[in-house]
Amino acid sequence: MISTKKGQDIPKPEGKLGVLMAGMGAISTTVIAGVEAIKRDIAKPIGSLTQMAHIRLGRRDEKRNPMIKEFVPLAGLEDMVFGGWDIFEEDCYEAALHAGVLEKSLIEEVKEPLRAIRPMKAVFDKKFVRKLDGPHVKNGASHMENAEALRRDIRDFQKNSGAARTVMIWCASTEIFMEEDSPVYKNLDSFEKALKENHPDIAPSMIYAYAALKEGVPFANGAPNLTAEVPALLSLALQNEVPVCGKDFKTGQTLMKTIIAPGLKARMLGIEGWFSTNILGNRDGEVLDDPDSFKTKEVSKLSVLDVILQPDYYPTLYKDLYHKVRINYYPPRGDAKEGWDNIDLTGFLGYKMQLKIDFLCRDSILAAPLVIDLALFLDLAKRAGMKGVQEWLSFYFKSPQTPRKDIYPEHDLFIQLMKLKNTLRHLMNEKVIHHLGEEYYA
Ligand SMILES: NC(=O)c1ccc[n+]([C@@H]2O[C@H](COP(=O)([O-])OP(=O)(O)OC[C@H]3O[C@@H](n4cnc5c(N)ncnc54)[C@H](O)[C@@H]3O)[C@@H](O)[C@H]2O)c1
Repeated sequence: MISTKKGQDIPKPEGKLGVLMAGMGAISTTVIAGVEAIKRDIAKPIGSLTQMAHIRLGRRDEKRNPMIKEFVPLAGLEDMVFGGWDIFEEDCYEAALHAGVLEKSLIEEVKEPLRAIRPMKAVFDKKFVRKLDGPHVKNGASHMENAEALRRDIRDFQKNSGAARTVMIWCASTEIFMEEDSPVYKNLDSFEKALKENHPDIAPSMIYAYAALKEGVPFANGAPNLTAEVPALLSLALQNEVPVCGKDFKTGQTLMKTIIAPGLKARMLGIEGWFSTNILGNRDGEVLDDPDSFKTKEVSKLSVLDVILQPDYYPTLYKDLYHKVRINYYPPRGDAKEGWDNIDLTGFLGYKMQLKIDFLCRDSILAAPLVIDLALFLDLAKRAGMKGVQEWLSFYFKSPQTPRKDIYPEHDLFIQLMKLKNTLRHLMNEKVIHHLGEEYYA
């Protein structure tokens, strides 16, 4: 465990928590409008572990089950203040209407705080998100100048909002697929040199992550982009003692996959094929219509089953698994995505079965509570002195980052949840729960 402080030694979350979001589209505006609606008691934070979940402590007969938010020193939703960047100038009220996630009547009730948040100018390069272009961008002479401008934005935001602590969450569009092998990512020196020289291997998301880490601001990556996964930025996170986590919020279809696949495997049922297809019509869907942005998403979505099913250990059950993922941009659906899965199963004596899932979900409604939790947990991690990759937050991601490249990420949602809760128990000097012990009630 890499926390330097535990229990009473973790500083209390005093003052406001600044939540900066790169990209102020469907998810970000749903987060802001949602928190404002919850503060006014006109809606509930359903889907948020920090706000809704309890955690068992000690033996079952002790009957200690506090809410997570009462057990660990988390900032309250009322302390959250928001800011961010976008390539479009519209304020959060207009952006929320545009995103079409929330009903107009709800948006009207929180119009005032939404109107008050105007995105700062973005660092953007169309080369990395081909389907988009916008006028509200910084024009620094180099990547380094843009990074410095973002750092100034962070400091200005802190000053103007009165935020005592800040976190940053990437909620902007998915960038094109990038390999990790560029020499500029190798260490901080090569990375900073590349920033100064405007090197083409530096993506905008990396510039945001760099700015956050330089300012000591914890960073989470909600998209599948490479971003903070490169050695240069990970070493900066360790050097500046900042927690980071990613990648790609685990919401619709992949959430279902990481719930169902571990169950099928637990029963030693074979899987011959898993065909997943989606239709969605929001701006995210439009961006993913570009094959290079889709590739980034596809890699993120495909990795899940291989790790959960371990075909090398279970060749009879999973060696020939055919796994296909498709995303189709279909404007009439807007943010109300539909994800279909067809699973071809093999049972006792090789008999075939099928399972069909049709998840009529809402992308940003599933994602927004994850942003709230990540902001609160990253802030906790920072106060507890945790730095570098926060694997206990894998629960929230499709492609969880691991502290070392030779460790595979844990995808099973229930293992991820156990890891998260045991981390909280450990932080608060409670026994971790492994469901096994001398006591009958363990
Ligand atoms: N909604 C989900 O369930 C879900 C799940 C996993 C991942 N994601 C990812 O989260 C991200 C946000 O999703 P969304 O539905 O809010 O998308 P969105 O298209 O509604 O919002 C993204 C916003 O980012 C802005 N943007 C693009 N590049 C930028 C840059 N360099 N700097 C600042 N702003 C920039 C766009 O103008 C847009 O307003 C996407 O990358 C998406 O793939 C979403």
